[in-house]
Order: sequence, then C-alpha cells, then structure tokens
Amino acid sequence: MLDTLTIRTQRTSASRLPELDLDHLEFGKVFSDHMFVVDFRNGEWQEPQIVPYGDMSVSPANSALHYGQSIFEGMKAYKNEQGDIALFRPTDNLHRLNASAERMCMPTLPEELFMQGLTQLIRLDAGWVPNVAGMSLYIRPFMFATDGMLGVRPSDTYRFMIITCPVAAFYNKPLRVRFEEKYVRSAEGGAGFAKNAGNYGAAMYPTKLAQQEGYNQLIWTDASEHRYVEESGTMNAMFVIDGRLITPALSSSILDGITRRSVLQLAHDWDMPVEERKVSAREILEAQANGTLEEAFGVGTAATIAPISVIGQHGQDYTLPATSEASFSRRVAAELDAIRTGAAPDVHGWMVQV
Ligand code: COI
Repeated sequence: MLDTLTIRTQRTSASRLPELDLDHLEFGKVFSDHMFVVDFRNGEWQEPQIVPYGDMSVSPANSALHYGQSIFEGMKAYKNEQGDIALFRPTDNLHRLNASAERMCMPTLPEELFMQGLTQLIRLDAGWVPNVAGMSLYIRPFMFATDGMLGVRPSDTYRFMIITCPVAAFYNKPLRVRFEEKYVRSAEGGAGFAKNAGNYGAAMYPTKLAQQEGYNQLIWTDASEHRYVEESGTMNAMFVIDGRLITPALSSSILDGITRRSVLQLAHDWDMPVEERKVSAREILEAQANGTLEEAFGVGTAATIAPISVIGQHGQDYTLPATSEASFSRRVAAELDAIRTGAAPDVHGWMVQV
C-alpha cells in the first residue's frame, strides 16, 4: 500500500548538504533539502508534492495567522551503523495529529498519505539523517488553515507539510526548573492535550520570566488550584520517588507524549512500580526534604530524556541528587537510544524502516 500513492517530486538543483556542519548545529535552524506539501480543498487532500525546501506565499488574511488554526507534531528518524533509516512510532504521531486536528476543527489525514509523504521525503533526504550517536533527523509535520478570510469560523482549506532538520540534544545539561503557580498553560476542558500552536505561544511569556530568574524551564501546575504538576515546558514530567516512577495522569490539559508512553512501557518491562496519578508540588518537595526524591526529568521527542537538577518554588531552590549510570533516567535514555539505532531488540515494534 505504501508504494501506491504518486507524489510529484521536484528535486533541488542545488543541495545544501555539503554545507552541513554537524558540529555546530542549533536545534531547528538547518533544514534538509526538501519538504512535503499537500493541500486540502473541496473536502479532499489534493496533489501531494515534494519540493525544494523554501519560503511560500499565504494570504495576509490567512486564518491560521489570525485565529490560530495550526497544529504540529515532533518526531524523529534514526540511522543505524549499517546506514538503514527507521522512524520511531510514526503512527502514534499520526493519531495524535488527527486528535489535534479534530479538536481544532481541521481535517484529519489518512494514514497512507502521511506515511507515504514521510517515507518518500526521508528517502530523498536520506543523506541528512545523521549517523552520529546522540543525533537524529527531527521531523516536523504540521497543518494550518489557508482560507484568506477574517470571519471567525473553521477554514475550508488547509495545507499539511513536513519539514525536517538534523539535530543534536535539545538540552545539553541538567535543567533548572521552577513550579509555575501564577500563569496557566492549559485548563481542564481546554486544548492542552492537543499540539496546537497557541499552547506554545501562550507559554512563552511565563517561560521568559522564569528564564530571567535563571531557570531553563517551568513545571506547570493545574489551572484551578496550582497544586498538581501538569508538564514541564516542552516535555512531560516524571519523578522517581522511593523507587517508584510517578507521572501526572493524562487529562485534557496534558499532552499525550509518545516518549512518555515509551518510558512508562520500559519501566513496566523492568518491573519498576509505575504510578500515573495526580502528583503535587508539595509531595515532590516533601520527598526532596526527606531524601526519597531520587530523580526528576522531562521526556519528549525534542528533549529526549532531560534530567532536572534543581526545582525552584517561591524563590527557594531545591537540589536533586546527581544522576549516575544506575539512575532510571540514564538507563531508560540508553535503552531508547539502543532500540532506535538497532543496538537493542525492538520488542514492542516501535521502529518503522524507511
Ligand atoms: C517535540 O518534542 O517534538 C516538541 O514538539 C517540542 C518542541 C516544541 C520543540
């Protein structure tokens, strides 16, 4: 089925690959040669194409710009030692994209179109997938409204695109984070579970304030009481307390992270007690005070597994123990890397060869 869809492909006449400098990569700034584009018009997805990466024109009245009908995904492709390329759980990204689309009154994408666009694009830009430990090809599928119309209603037309960029680690050292107890990322019943652009735009101001105070990121708390942890910046949040892996249960205000899901699965596989439930800032700081808070870390596609070294609250900083090779976060990060690069068996069938 994957080889049946025709995607018109226009190759670049001037590849930028020879200029790629993997030693000086800033996340999300260097894009591969091509991009996938398909438009939704008259109720259907029409004429998928792969074209050279570049600017495009949109109507100044484009309703994504005015009213935020815009969603995206983050996923990665990895190259193993033999040079084979594989995607990590791509259909999970498609299902989440379609859940976001439904929440934002946008059309869903058929699996064949998504997988064909993705695999044909990555095959064409195979040279851009790094085969260096700790590096990968970050893939950004996204969809936005294209009606040029200032009326506030769902657009009739949309564009879905995929762009890609080689990346290294998103964070290169353990994070200083603080609880956010004034601003809100998302409330119950809002669109926090969806990966819509507005969730990220609205988070920038509170995050900037925390960065001015010397933190890298926030740990968002719930909108009604500011008691319970939601997620951390661009990641889901996890804690190891007294040998148990604890993470906030999913809700309409928390992103259903694919890395989150994978880490929980590996913890189950290793017979580690896992608790998906409400976890309060107070519980975490009490555990820190009585020495049972062993680890805190963020998990996400871009961030991978990002250890937290300091948690701040009300102007006070609380330091976590340094991680060691035996720490859960280090072991799970190593196992995920090994699965992704083919060094460990893929028992859950997470990898899809390109
Ligand atoms: C990802 O982890 O892929 C994300 O979407 C986070 C991001 C906004 C960099």
